[in-house]
Amino acid sequence: MGDARGRVAAGEVTGALISEETIRLVRERTDIQAVVSETVKLTRRGRSWVGLCPFHKERSPSFHVTPERGIFHCFGCGEHGNAFDFLMKTEGLSFPEAVHRLAERAGIEIEKDRSPATRREEEAARKLRDDLYAILALAASYYERMLTEHPHGRLALDELARRRLVPTSPTDTIATALQSFRVGYAPAEWAGLAAFLRQQGASPSTAEQAGLLLPRSAGGGFYDRFRNRLMFAVMDLQGRVVGFSGRILPDPQTGIIDKESGKYINSPETPVYRKGELVFGLFQARQAIRQAEQAVLVEGNFDVVSLHARGIRNVVAPLGTAFTAEQAMAIKRFAPEVVLLFDGDAAGRKAVRAAREPCKKAGLVARAATLPEGVDPDALSRERGPEAVRAVIQASRGLLEHLVAACLNERFTSASAEERAERVREVVALINGEDDPAVRAMVQQFADDVARLLVQRDEFLGKVDATTFRALVRAVRAGVARPEVAPSPPRGEVPRDPVTDEVLGILLDFPSLLNDIEETDWSCLRGDAALVVAVLQEHDPEQDAEKFLANLPTSFQSFALQRLAAPVYSDLSTARSQLEANLKKLKVRSIEQERVSLKKEVVRAGQLGDQEAEMASLREIEECFRQRMQLRSRRAGGAARR
Ligand code: CTP
Ligand code: MN
Repeated sequence: MGDARGRVAAGEVTGALISEETIRLVRERTDIQAVVSETVKLTRRGRSWVGLCPFHKERSPSFHVTPERGIFHCFGCGEHGNAFDFLMKTEGLSFPEAVHRLAERAGIEIEKDRSPATRREEEAARKLRDDLYAILALAASYYERMLTEHPHGRLALDELARRRLVPTSPTDTIATALQSFRVGYAPAEWAGLAAFLRQQGASPSTAEQAGLLLPRSAGGGFYDRFRNRLMFAVMDLQGRVVGFSGRILPDPQTGIIDKESGKYINSPETPVYRKGELVFGLFQARQAIRQAEQAVLVEGNFDVVSLHARGIRNVVAPLGTAFTAEQAMAIKRFAPEVVLLFDGDAAGRKAVRAAREPCKKAGLVARAATLPEGVDPDALSRERGPEAVRAVIQASRGLLEHLVAACLNERFTSASAEERAERVREVVALINGEDDPAVRAMVQQFADDVARLLVQRDEFLGKVDATTFRALVRAVRAGVARPEVAPSPPRGEVPRDPVTDEVLGILLDFPSLLNDIEETDWSCLRGDAALVVAVLQEHDPEQDAEKFLANLPTSFQSFALQRLAAPVYSDLSTARSQLEANLKKLKVRSIEQERVSLKKEVVRAGQLGDQEAEMASLREIEECFRQRMQLRSRRAGGAARR
């Protein structure tokens, strides 16, 4: 890292320096593990990642990368440094080139320093930041003290008591949590903090810049931003107080909660408080997140503190704003995975959907857990204990699966036809939005399973209409683009596949054969062909040919019309064996396609050093072979089957 600094100084000669601020930002937003992974295969070992050193020849890995510190170090040859150094050493880049490269990667605009005046400004900015940290720390201790010393501190203590956050000893987990979040009370006074800061000799203008005081509109002077609030301190990753979040309390005189002023008042953006980047509780949770190899993201400050107080400590929150990619990156420095544990209401569900994109950007694996409607994690832990929360977290599933399941939930059954169609479209969009073919295949399988489950449950409940759901499975399958298949040509111009046409033709000749063939055997049909089968299941062409035709995808309409008009087979048993033979062909083909895409996946996973994905794909390839063998033996004895 010394090298990087050295280059900054060297760059001074050229006169066009990249600003310190930019370098700091780039360093903060760069995931060194991701950068190194592009050239070195890394595997996780505790807090760091290890691999074969790119700087000297070795057989066993002694090259370590520690994402939370942003550094690499080789215990074999002694090479070390940060992400900039790594690029400079492995790719021979200059320091500014390395900064540019990583800035681009992180989506940061480069700011150039040009004059000594700018450098003085920077110096001043650094000094201001230090002053802000100092005054914020002072404020935090004031609020803490007011909780027990101020005559109205009771209001805040009562709110904590309502949440059963009352320590039984000064060292129990509740006391520890309240201390570590520096929970406090901002008195219901216009100049409580202002007076305290004055008495401490702190500058009111610095306090204003820290977001603590506001200038009076008339007569000069300043007043407190936070009044009559239960205070949570917001800290950065070094544990410095950078801001506050204050929850409303009942008025000390009337006992009424003022609905006019917001439930929370948060610090404004300041040079040290950047909402989109800060994660509430990350400083306090970071060890636990690392140990659990998983972070839990909740919505509210109280959820965080309450779970910490009850022994679940890998919990953080996004501070009331929409979850951002920067926040996801901050979490990813400590664990590869996050579980979204949002409130079981409409807003919570929306927040889960909105979190997908930022997690994806940061490469953070997202799971989602389902809370009972109207219950937040704080309430759940309070009423049913931390075990109940752990169980919910345990039952979390992949975000995509979770979202698919939310579309295909019990209410699907009673929904209107339009809503069902809308939900199916949503499922299809969700699956198509996933670009990892392996994940996509899995989610598609999952969607199938859920749909099937719905069928069974419904039949069990006597609400029946299994065909609708079989059609649903088909519709989802049909809508989902296969990664290995080129985008489908415009409707009506689909190149005909003779094998598929033969299968559908036979079905048109003898629709009853639909019931003779196992459900799973239809899975080898793709796109519109799958839709045709779905329509066949819904509408019997022998009963109402017109309705049947009207529901068909346009690409099959004239084909079906001709075939219905002129059947090819007249003997049922011949038709059946032909159908079986052609389905088998399709199946072999689809297994082969699957195998090809899996092979690509193995290569990709290998390059990324993702051994788990590699193994999983290899296992699936094995499964492909197994299926093929099975098909072959079936073919051998096929004639005797029926
Ligand atoms: N929030 C905010 N401004 C508001 C409301 C909420 O900044 N006007 C943020 C706070 O960080 C809050 C979080 O959004 O913690 C979740 O909001 P909410 O669930 O309403 O607050 P909780 O602290 O969870 O309190 P409660 O137990 O009443 O749900
Ligand atoms: Mn809440």
